[in-house]
Amino acid sequence: MNVPPRLADAAAWAAKAAARRGIRALSDDKAPFGIRLRRFAGPSSYRSKISHLRIAHLTDLHVGRITPFAVQQAAVAMTNAEAPDLVVLTGDFVCHSQLYLEQLVEVVGGFRAPTIAVLGNHDYWSGADEVERALRRAGAEVLKNRHTVLTLGRNHERLQVLGLDDAYTGHARRDEAVKGLRRDIPTLGLSHIAEEADGLWRHGVPLVLAGHTHGGQVTLARLHELTLGKIGGHRYVHGLYGSRRATGHASVDSVGNRLSKGTGTGLAATPEGAVYVGAGIGAAVMPLRIGERGKREVTIFELGAEPGSFEEHHGEQEPMPGRKPSQAKMAKRAAAVVRKRLSRERHKLRTMGPTKS
Ligand SMILES: [Fe+2]
Repeated sequence: MNVPPRLADAAAWAAKAAARRGIRALSDDKAPFGIRLRRFAGPSSYRSKISHLRIAHLTDLHVGRITPFAVQQAAVAMTNAEAPDLVVLTGDFVCHSQLYLEQLVEVVGGFRAPTIAVLGNHDYWSGADEVERALRRAGAEVLKNRHTVLTLGRNHERLQVLGLDDAYTGHARRDEAVKGLRRDIPTLGLSHIAEEADGLWRHGVPLVLAGHTHGGQVTLARLHELTLGKIGGHRYVHGLYGSRRATGHASVDSVGNRLSKGTGTGLAATPEGAVYVGAGIGAAVMPLRIGERGKREVTIFELGAEPGSFEEHHGEQEPMPGRKPSQAKMAKRAAAVVRKRLSRERHKLRTMGPTKS
């Protein structure tokens, strides 16, 4: 078996490996359903601990009526063709109901690699317990404010994966998630909401993968930055932000206090890590995707490769100013989860009909 040496050029190795497996790279216009395959290197700090691990990131599958099942199948096939060592999924598996959970099991069960998931707001709106059970049935591990250590790849390399529960609906508990985090093992963070990354970097999580924004779906004339950034208050809208050369650990003292200078907004003046916001595969409301940044996306991260050692879709971007949701807004979001659960329970009782005495 041909084991890759320490990667000076991960893309070249990937192309050779794909050629050996008889896989041709797809040009964008030949990609099924316009799904883009984007490739990035991992953080520099992984390089002393990982020779090579390939991670596939997909988000916002939204399995259901709006997104054709064939799109989901194509995304799974594209992912499997890359032969990743791990697949990570960052939430929003359903749209507004539990009607398509069997299809979800089929989609997630189709990945030919260990699979780890975190939940998103649509999962909470539709029934987080039921979505989680479906994911487990499909063979995925669901991380809710906890972490796990995996041994992956041909070289049996260790990777710690931390998963935050959904922050949009108020279920993220960072303190719980980082408890017992090992600092001697490289850590990859997962969160549906990208803005949680800033809080994870300082705990030695140099790369966080996220979703939720769908890249804006319509990105002509940078419309997505206006709608999601300026109006929606998102700091991270689509793609790569922060720095993959930051160390994270250096900004925290032995008891977890921050050493780096802040901006007064609770965020560091210089990024202490990196975050990637995937554009997602599906949609819950509007299927339209116009503009390159808004296309459906499978993202590959070559951990162990140095940033800049191969051509990437784009470099690290400047974040938008961002705006934290108010307490009132967070309370409204939490209430929506309860309201939807009660509505589901009432519907269930109605459809069960009157009970015989
Ligand atoms: Fe979504």
